[in-house]
Amino acid sequence: MISQQTIQQILSRIDIVEIVGNFVKLKKRGANYLGLCPFHNEKSPSFTVTPSKEIFKCFGCGVSGNAIKFLMEHEKYSYVEALRWLAQKYDVPIEETEVSAEVRQQQQLADSLYIINNFAREYFSNTLFNTEEGQNVGLSYFEERGFTQETIKKFQLGYSLNVWDAFTKAAISKGYNLEYLQKTGLVTVRNEQPGDNYRGRVIFPIHNQSGKVLGFGARILVKNDRAPKYINSPENEIYIKNRVLYGTYFARHAIDKLNECLLVEGYTDVISLHQAGIENVVASSGTSLTQHQLRLIKKYTNNLTILFDGDNAGIKAALRGLDMAIEEGLNVKLVLIPDKEDPDSYVQKIGAAAFREFIAANKQDFVLFKLQISMQEAGNDSSRKSQLVNEIAETISKIDKTEDFTRQQDYIRQCSQVLKIDEQGMINLVNKFIRERFQKKENQLAKEQAASTPPDDDLSPEAIAAMEAMEGGGEPAVNFFNPDEKQERELVKILLRFGDKPFSEEDKSTVADYIFHLPYDFESLADNEMVRKILREYKQFYDQDNLPDRKWFLYHNDQDISSMVVHIMEDKEAELSAAWKEKFEIDTVYGDNAYLKDTISTTNYLILRKIRKMIVENQQEMERSTVFEEQIKCIEMHKHLKQLETELTQGIGTVIFR
Ligand code: CTP
Ligand code: MN
Repeated sequence: MISQQTIQQILSRIDIVEIVGNFVKLKKRGANYLGLCPFHNEKSPSFTVTPSKEIFKCFGCGVSGNAIKFLMEHEKYSYVEALRWLAQKYDVPIEETEVSAEVRQQQQLADSLYIINNFAREYFSNTLFNTEEGQNVGLSYFEERGFTQETIKKFQLGYSLNVWDAFTKAAISKGYNLEYLQKTGLVTVRNEQPGDNYRGRVIFPIHNQSGKVLGFGARILVKNDRAPKYINSPENEIYIKNRVLYGTYFARHAIDKLNECLLVEGYTDVISLHQAGIENVVASSGTSLTQHQLRLIKKYTNNLTILFDGDNAGIKAALRGLDMAIEEGLNVKLVLIPDKEDPDSYVQKIGAAAFREFIAANKQDFVLFKLQISMQEAGNDSSRKSQLVNEIAETISKIDKTEDFTRQQDYIRQCSQVLKIDEQGMINLVNKFIRERFQKKENQLAKEQAASTPPDDDLSPEAIAAMEAMEGGGEPAVNFFNPDEKQERELVKILLRFGDKPFSEEDKSTVADYIFHLPYDFESLADNEMVRKILREYKQFYDQDNLPDRKWFLYHNDQDISSMVVHIMEDKEAELSAAWKEKFEIDTVYGDNAYLKDTISTTNYLILRKIRKMIVENQQEMERSTVFEEQIKCIEMHKHLKQLETELTQGIGTVIFR
């Protein structure tokens, strides 16, 4: 892990204009910089970089974020990869922290597995080209299937001799650990004899996005009902099947460039299409798509085109799984390969040009395709038909991203035409599904609120007065019972801006000291999960006597945290007082120490909210309770809480009116 110090150092050097400027030609326009958006095609520039806020934003396509987000989007880096890129650029030496023994062990294990896989890849490739059996059996098999030498080398294909332990011996004599060899699946132990798992098979290495070998698929050469056609690597620390798509390493640039990803089923489909010059293709390896895989695709494109084998029996099941792709915002198209062919055999049969034409001409929209298939199935069965209308409406309702609104409307029009039903009826039905989903969320929220919202008439006059005072005349009113998280965010803002500022002259304490020494744990008082995360992490820094600066959270690897902090820091009021100061060289009413008042009133507010929650819960318990002693306890508790409440409201009052 990169140490916190290193990260802070890197962050302090970041100059967003310079970083974006590496990839986009920027021109200065007032306080901003302007350029052509690298994330969508445009002729006139709508991509801006605002150095003062350290963010970029495109007014054309809406993408926005900080410098690290830019690198992650543009270069498809992970957060850590982006940091390493920056470290190199700014010449910041990377200091790795002592990781826990457990984590280090995991890393070492993963490294070992990569090393073994790489050794095996070379070994099998060498066997394929340089042994007699390899040439006669393996190489001639690939040649028979139409793979050129160039293709075989590019995909690093190999061959495993039909010998009990040829590879095992080589690996062990190289000093590789038998336990790890078994973990990779390359070696199995039978009757205490370690031997090769892929004997007599051709080998397809499976790469991750940066070209490292995660595992292998090993294909049998002759049809044999007693042995599986493919043996694949078992899941281990580096090979997690449902997160991998075969071919991403070879396809990523083409997918990016063509803004489309073709999905096929098999290793050989990917390889043959590549050889035919169709490179934007990956394989699911015969299983249905997982969310991880969909997100992997989404990193490169929103357009997914699935090529189904002609004889595919599982097509209906596959269609069901594709609703998930729609929810992820992918634009899904389907192509059926005809005549019991698969993409591999079909492209070899009709040639690259005809294959391309075929795809272009036979691309069908997923939603409409699903509709057609189900229509055929339903026939004249009217109850089946109405079920179908519902299903389609539900699928369409899942396209609820604002940007896809027109797409949704198109679907509604087209589907109601196919179904021969009234368009308005379809609109209503789709809206019903959207509403239902929305309602479900609302209900959940309401349930959570019910636990925390005391009835209105329970508000003491002091509390109302204090609240009103706190809201301040000109500011937008804050509803105490509104679960909006304004005050929670305010606490974050105070910590990030003023955490290290003096709180008390007397004991030299800071604002952070004050907040963390109150007898309340604000992390657990906050409702917003993001706020809780920030508080937790801030506290960890605080405990190590090393307060994080604003940038730490602004560039957080959790994008949700980072954007929340962007918003918090953009807060209008904060800008307002800064503007006052700049323009008129005077401070707002509270002077430079306004943050003291903010600190106290914000913390008191949150504590008060908690106490009121407890009062309500206590009342509920009292009502439920049938045991006298318990009721007495509740009454005592009520008194205690009310006392606290009064003290706090008065406290807020004093602070406000001081
Ligand atoms: N598969 C597998 N195990 C099997 C059969 C298939 O893992 N026993 C996976 C492989 O990833 C394979 C894909 O499912 O590539 C598709 O299977 P299939 O169409 O049978 O294989 P092809 O890739 O078309 O291989 P070939 O052209 O050599 O028949
Ligand atoms: Mn095939």
